[in-house]
Amino acid sequence: MTNTIYFSEDRLHVESLAVSDIVQAFGTPTYVYSATKIEAAYQHFVSAFADRDIMVCYAVKANSNLGVLGLLADQGAGFDIVSQGELERVIRAGGDPRRVVFSGVGKQDPEIARALQAGIACFNIESRSELERIAQIAAPLSISAPISVRINPDVDPMTHPYISTGLKENKFGVDIETAREIYRRAKELPWISIKGVDCHIGSQITDLAPFKACVQKVAGFVDELASEGIELEHIDLGGGIGVSYNGESVIDVRDYANAICEILKDYPQRLVFEPGRTLVADAGLLLCRVVTLKENEGKHFAVVDAAMNDLLRPALYGAYQRIEPIAQLPRKEQVYDVVGPVCESGDFLAKERRLAIAEDDILAIHSCGAYAFVMSSNYNTRGRAAEVLVKGETMQCVRDRESIEDQLRLERLFSV
Ligand code: LLP
Repeated sequence: MTNTIYFSEDRLHVESLAVSDIVQAFGTPTYVYSATKIEAAYQHFVSAFADRDIMVCYAVKANSNLGVLGLLADQGAGFDIVSQGELERVIRAGGDPRRVVFSGVGKQDPEIARALQAGIACFNIESRSELERIAQIAAPLSISAPISVRINPDVDPMTHPYISTGLKENKFGVDIETAREIYRRAKELPWISIKGVDCHIGSQITDLAPFKACVQKVAGFVDELASEGIELEHIDLGGGIGVSYNGESVIDVRDYANAICEILKDYPQRLVFEPGRTLVADAGLLLCRVVTLKENEGKHFAVVDAAMNDLLRPALYGAYQRIEPIAQLPRKEQVYDVVGPVCESGDFLAKERRLAIAEDDILAIHSCGAYAFVMSSNYNTRGRAAEVLVKGETMQCVRDRESIEDQLRLERLFSV
């Protein structure tokens, strides 16, 4: 697929721009995203399903920047949201609410009302009480609520335990027995309209087998519902395709599509997908500057100006993110832990990496387009990084670096 992040004349580029020029314009730490790469990833996903009727609902949680959402809306994407905030972002970015599915275990009443009024495509219901609640909110509004029930197929996605969602010990979805009862009840409720079924078994999945097992279970359940006279318009298979953070082999979207279409070839329903990571992860870099190189009894540290508050994945999941200097310069090689200035030993971005770097060099952390900026915080009263979108020779800041004033704006002294 289109590689828009590459080295040319020993200098890292994003699309037609040298990363050093981006740093000059916007400083560090800064997130940079390649627009062309995001668009290509979306088109690659869509084209893998050839002539099958599908709706690709990008999982907004992966990267919810308005600029990124706008790009995907222009490509015709739908969106998978988990909060009213995400819905407002989608609308602000020009997305079509009629192509929005609403996931999540804890939807609150005002969020449900707003989504009903906006006319979303489907509520992915995760419990009996959620169905009753949606029905109660829909009735006085005289809006028929489109629903799907998220089934928990009890399939092991073989990924990090924090991002496994389809095992019975996880909080997500309902078992097939319960789902059957929820559909029967949904059929009786006047302001509820049954649209589909959905599932999502986890994230960063690198093997096709769990996806296949899940689709088989969903297909069997669709048959069961049909035998009770409950016909569905769509089958939503969630997201979860992994990306290669460290050269590991990953699922080709075309193989994923072929496997699913084969299992569901006799099912006329529209297929819905909720990919997040696979559309945006590889399109993003986090750029940071080496502040200090130091040594503690033979252990070398590169202290950079990005930290766990900017990129939490290494600290939270022990995740590997590739890191390299943006220019290949003659430097002494050394094995470093790359760490931030935050006061926690868990504040690391990379461990034991062989790097040829000096103080003030700029480093690029790869695969930072998904679950990176969105998980950032103000810990240690650090302003969130800037976000920049690049297309061809154009770069544009799509989120300003947060100032100290921005951070203090919502607070006040306690005065009694
Ligand atoms: N649909 C639902 C209902 C989800 O919960 C998720 C992700 C997705 C779709 C998108 O999954 P994807 O295609 O991106 O794998 N912060 C973690 C990942 C958490 C994923 C949460 N749910 C990380 O940094 O790895």
